[in-house]
Amino acid sequence: MKGIILAGGKGTRLYPLTIAMSKQLLPVYDKPMVYYPLSMLMLAGIREVLIISTPDALPAFRELLKDGSHWGMKFEYKEQAEPRGLADAFLVGREFIGDSPVCLILGDNIFYGEGMISLLQKCASLTEGAFIFGYRVTDPERYGIVEFDADENVISIEEKPESPKSNFAVPGIYFYDNQVVQLAEKVKPSARGEIEITDLNKLYLERGQLKVRVFGRGVAWLDAGTHDSLLQAAMFIEAIQNRQGLMISCPEEIAYRMSFINKAQLQKLGEALRGNSYGDYLLEIVEKEK
Ligand code: TTP
Repeated sequence: MKGIILAGGKGTRLYPLTIAMSKQLLPVYDKPMVYYPLSMLMLAGIREVLIISTPDALPAFRELLKDGSHWGMKFEYKEQAEPRGLADAFLVGREFIGDSPVCLILGDNIFYGEGMISLLQKCASLTEGAFIFGYRVTDPERYGIVEFDADENVISIEEKPESPKSNFAVPGIYFYDNQVVQLAEKVKPSARGEIEITDLNKLYLERGQLKVRVFGRGVAWLDAGTHDSLLQAAMFIEAIQNRQGLMISCPEEIAYRMSFINKAQLQKLGEALRGNSYGDYLLEIVEKEK
C-alpha cells in the first residue's frame, strides 16, 4: 500500500494566513500541520508517500520533509496546478501509484484516539474495493455523508446534502484498490467544478465494493481549515500532550516505534533539534530505552 497526502488547495477560509503560506505548513501547536496526516500513514505501515501541493508551496514541503530516508520513509512530490478536486489526487498521482493500492489522506485532517492504529493497519492490507470511514457530526450538511445498515454496508453517499440521511460524515482518509486511477478518470467535474471524491466513492458503491468503518466516540477528528478550528486543534494537541507527556503525531517517534529507524538514527534526529522541547522529547525516548 502506498500513501498520498493531498496538501494543495487555496485555503481561502484561513486568509490572510494562507495568502503567502500553505495551510498544511501552518503550525498546529508544536508541529507543521502536515505531520499529523503523515503520521497516520506511517502508523498504518505505509512507507512510500506522495505529497501533492501547489507549485508555489512544493519547495517548502521538500525542504521540510526531504526524501524521507531520515525517517525510514520514501517521499515523492508532485504539483497540482489548480485545486481540481480531491479525486484529482489519483490522476496527479497516477505514475506514483503504479500497480499498488493506495491510501489518500487530506493534508488538513487530524486524527487521534483509541483504536485508530489497528483499524488503519487492517485497512492498509486491503487488496480489493475501497474503505471509507464514518464519523458522527452535528452539522452533516457541511460534509460528504454516508448512510449504512447495521452491518456497516453502505446504502448511500452524498456530498453536502440539504436533507442528510445520516449524521455520519466521511473524514479525509480513504483506502482504495488499484482500480482507483481508472475510476477517477470517469468522474466528471461537479457543479462547483471539482472532481469529487464522493462521486468516486459512488462508483465503488455501484460495484458493490465500498465498505465503511465507523470511528468510535473515542476518536477525535479535527479539520484545521478555519481560524477557530485551527486554534481548537492546537489547544487540543497541547492539552493532551502536556497532560500525558506523550506527543501526538511525532513522525520521528513513530518511525522509531514502527522500526523504520533504529535508536542511533533517532538519537541523531533528536540531537539536530536539541535545546527545544521537541528535540529533548526525542532524546528522552533514546535515554529511557537504554
Ligand atoms: P478544502 O478545505 O476543501 O479546500 P482548501 O484547503 O483550498 O480550503 P478553503 O475552502 O479554505 O479554500 O480542501 C481539503 C484539503 O484538500 C486541504 O488540505 C487542501 C486539499 N485540496 C487539494 O490539495 N487539492 C484540491 O483540489 C482540493 C479541492 C483540496
